[in-house]
Amino acid sequence: MCGIIGITSKDAGVIRSLVDGLYRLEYRGYDSAGVFLSDGTCVRSVGKVSQLAAHIEARRVHKNPSCSGVAHTRWATHGEVTEANAHPHLDCTKRIAVVHNGVIENWRELRDELEKQGHAFASETDSEVLAHLIEREYKRNESLCTAVEAALSCVRGAYGIAVVHLDCPEILIAACAGSPLIIGITEQARLVASDPIALAAHTASMIWMEDGDIAVLEPHAHAIVRLNGGHVVRKEQQVHLSEQELDRGEYRHYMLKEIMQIPEVLRVCMAGRNKSKDGLVWLGGLERVKDWLYELERVVFTGCGTAYYAAQFGAYFFETLAGIPTEVVLASEFADRVSVLRHAAVVAVSQSGETKDTCDALEEAKRRGALALGVVNTANSRLTRITHAGVHMRAGQESAVASTKAFFAPVAILLMMAVQLGRMRGLPHQTAVQILTDLAATPDILERMLSKEWRAYVQEKAAVLSKYENALYLGRGLHYPAACEGALKIKEVSYIHAEGYAAGEMKHGPLALVNESFPSVIVVPQGPAREKTLTSLAEIRARKGPVFAIATEGDTEVEQQADHTIFVPRVPHPLMDVFVVTTALDLLAYYAGVARGCDVDQPRNLAKAVTTE
Ligand code: M6R
Repeated sequence: MCGIIGITSKDAGVIRSLVDGLYRLEYRGYDSAGVFLSDGTCVRSVGKVSQLAAHIEARRVHKNPSCSGVAHTRWATHGEVTEANAHPHLDCTKRIAVVHNGVIENWRELRDELEKQGHAFASETDSEVLAHLIEREYKRNESLCTAVEAALSCVRGAYGIAVVHLDCPEILIAACAGSPLIIGITEQARLVASDPIALAAHTASMIWMEDGDIAVLEPHAHAIVRLNGGHVVRKEQQVHLSEQELDRGEYRHYMLKEIMQIPEVLRVCMAGRNKSKDGLVWLGGLERVKDWLYELERVVFTGCGTAYYAAQFGAYFFETLAGIPTEVVLASEFADRVSVLRHAAVVAVSQSGETKDTCDALEEAKRRGALALGVVNTANSRLTRITHAGVHMRAGQESAVASTKAFFAPVAILLMMAVQLGRMRGLPHQTAVQILTDLAATPDILERMLSKEWRAYVQEKAAVLSKYENALYLGRGLHYPAACEGALKIKEVSYIHAEGYAAGEMKHGPLALVNESFPSVIVVPQGPAREKTLTSLAEIRARKGPVFAIATEGDTEVEQQADHTIFVPRVPHPLMDVFVVTTALDLLAYYAGVARGCDVDQPRNLAKAVTTE
């Protein structure tokens, strides 16, 4: 959450690169934004980066020749969305500027202490204490780096910070613990950002800082010291992110672009995984914990939001194909619920690999003796460092806050893992081969389904659904988590209040909500749950509730009973219905959001990577 970029360069005019970097980072937080330049210029604004850019133009700061500076785009935690609470935060002398991601847990006591010492605060944020702490420590220390080190030794919590001081304008100090920072290296400059995509336009040479690192950046050099003393050298990596991957391309929104990428994501995520001698899948990252996998008595899945629903599919696959008892626990509930984890694996699913609750859950799982596995999209992320082993999603950059394509990759991976574990536990070879063959056929089915005509057809249904303020999303068995994911998506991007429910639970309460102005979206494709779900559909119709059904093409019985039907293609195996059904639900949400005039890529109050509790 929040985005940081800092630059120190030999070249003048870093303001342009800072603002461009903020645009790239905006999906991580977009309440307010700000920039501080090494001549002391500070511009802050509430709202999106475009609003900050307008202020910068109006004050002619876009022509500022400064060679270094820091910038930030915020997702508010402490203090409302106001200009005063926007970063960068300054010390009393207005010579030190700090941008901060994360949460300083002991900020209240630090602020009281600093106020008693005469420091005057300008904001309600936790972050501002850092500027004043560094101011205080700078008076007692010989350099900005040692002052930052001393300041950070007073704080508890998570931080990624970039600091500039007008006394030494060519130096940037960056430090992190629990919130990522990456250094970018060019011939003329050193950059630091909270996400590699903000660096991609400048360089492919990047260094991932580790928790406890403090970096001293100058245009031609960088050095990293440890918070507790000593120097370290971190490996430089080459990271190539193409413009094509980062831009919306021909699409009006990232969300639509990312839905259209689903077939390709599935192909890429499966490619080259079928390497074992018996022709079955062997997920490379798991090979080194093979012996551990044979011993498993239980698998606990965890994640948040969309990742949690993907994990629910994993649990279904593991139980039905590998016969392993499973549990799915929301990452934020994990520490309070799961106790002994001997002979257990905990599988954490995360697109960003940074979600604090998910990382904390996996760390807790390790402490309790579990095998810690990850299905993660972002290489080098915090979660990848916690796991004993894992599988990379290969879904590429996901920029829309609503996760779509990054749901499909983990579902496919968890299915492949379940098949592999199933083979270790007696799943017949033929069954395993058939599932993997059917999975491999799914991207082509999805590609045909996502035709222009079919999208227009979903858009028509979405236009009708978008007129309502509430909706129930219902499914049974494998389609219950799909319904929950559909409900999450539509509430996120269209602000329609929607709840995912197990269809069989309707008559135990939610049916009371149903009337002619309360619609239900019922996931009822082919397969074992269809008949019983049809009963729920009939119960809703009997109470005049409008029904939108997601059904398998040719299912005239559903079509006759529902008010609106969205047909999805028949897939070769009922397990693959999750892919066609969820694609339809994603698109339905997208078009409903567009019809209601919502900012579908950046819904209000949200941010992409949730790095706070
Ligand atoms: O990066 P993660 O997969 O760990 O993120 C988990 C959730 O924050 C995320 O899926 C969120 O619910 C999305 N906005 C859903 O569209």
